[in-house]
Amino acid sequence: MATKSKRSASKTKNESTAEADGLLMAEEPEVKIEELPGVGPATAEKLREAGFDDLLAIAVMSPSELAEQAELGEAVAGKIIAGAKTMANIGGFVSGSALLDRRREVLKLSAKVQSIDDLLGGGFETQALVEVYGAFGSGKTQIGHQLAVNCTLPMSEGGLDGDIFYIDTEDTFRPERITQMARGLGLDPDAVLSRIHVARAYNSAHQILLVDEIKRLSRGMNVKLIIVDSLTSHFRAEYVGRGMLAERQQKLNRHLKELKQTADVNNAIVLVTNQVHSKPDAMWGDPTKPVGGHVLAHASTFRLYLRKAKGGRRIARLVDSPNLPDGECIYQVTEEGLRD
Ligand code: GTP
Ligand code: MG
Repeated sequence: MATKSKRSASKTKNESTAEADGLLMAEEPEVKIEELPGVGPATAEKLREAGFDDLLAIAVMSPSELAEQAELGEAVAGKIIAGAKTMANIGGFVSGSALLDRRREVLKLSAKVQSIDDLLGGGFETQALVEVYGAFGSGKTQIGHQLAVNCTLPMSEGGLDGDIFYIDTEDTFRPERITQMARGLGLDPDAVLSRIHVARAYNSAHQILLVDEIKRLSRGMNVKLIIVDSLTSHFRAEYVGRGMLAERQQKLNRHLKELKQTADVNNAIVLVTNQVHSKPDAMWGDPTKPVGGHVLAHASTFRLYLRKAKGGRRIARLVDSPNLPDGECIYQVTEEGLRD
């Protein structure tokens, strides 16, 4: 297929290795719940209404729990679970050496700011989900814009020669800012802008759907960076109160998994921005903590906490990295972009 041939050789190898190892499931056709034994249209609807829209979610249930939650008979529930167990892609164990091979495919995107690259052990890693959080005006959107520009640079200059998808939930993407930053690196602004694909997300459901759109469009592209700015604002505005917390976290969790899977398949970076609680409250908790709770904390490979310092400077703190020490760095936001 034409789209296949456009993919880089490294990506094709990357995918085939990963699929052979059972590491990735994204490219396999997903089995629908209707295909399970004993599930007709009416039962499928009941299951979906109760939130069971994929096989793995059903496979891990007990018959009595599923029967109660989806209002089914226990015998029927047992049969459905047995079917889901055989048909669901449970994943599995892979050897350490297979994982090491996969780690060797990891690329690094430079911030073009030495102190940030040092903090991150050389730059932003592909196959990772990076969360950037901080208060209003701390510079989260600036990082998103700068990385989008840097991503178009050739590998020899710290870029990934890649395409960028940008999901904008707060209407803060500014092509003018991209133009300034591109000029700051001596790049042609129009060439840079043509590689950044922006969609405004109007609500959380739309935001989730846009990831499907990225999956579809990315087949013919060399996607190396996916930005969601901000990840949590719609979820936070729409799911208000304790009663909606579980549903919100479930939706957010699924959204994050889809994003991470898209990153793995494309050997790309996912960068999400997130706010901190502006005031203490029962639902959102500690005012200095990022929004999104444990779901986001567990999904993020790297977390960067941004704050303003004196004289227009910014401080980025690396929190909870799997293989790097925690630490801080200082940089500046200038008209040309982020600088040491
Ligand atoms: P919220 O989305 O409101 O939570 O904030 P944020 O963390 O995304 O902040 P953002 O990245 O939008 O940072 C805005 C800040 O970046 C401004 O207050 C300025 O300090 C700085 N900034 C933006 N553009 C420029 C520019 O052209 N020149 C300079 N010097 N600073 C800029
Ligand atoms: Mg912002």
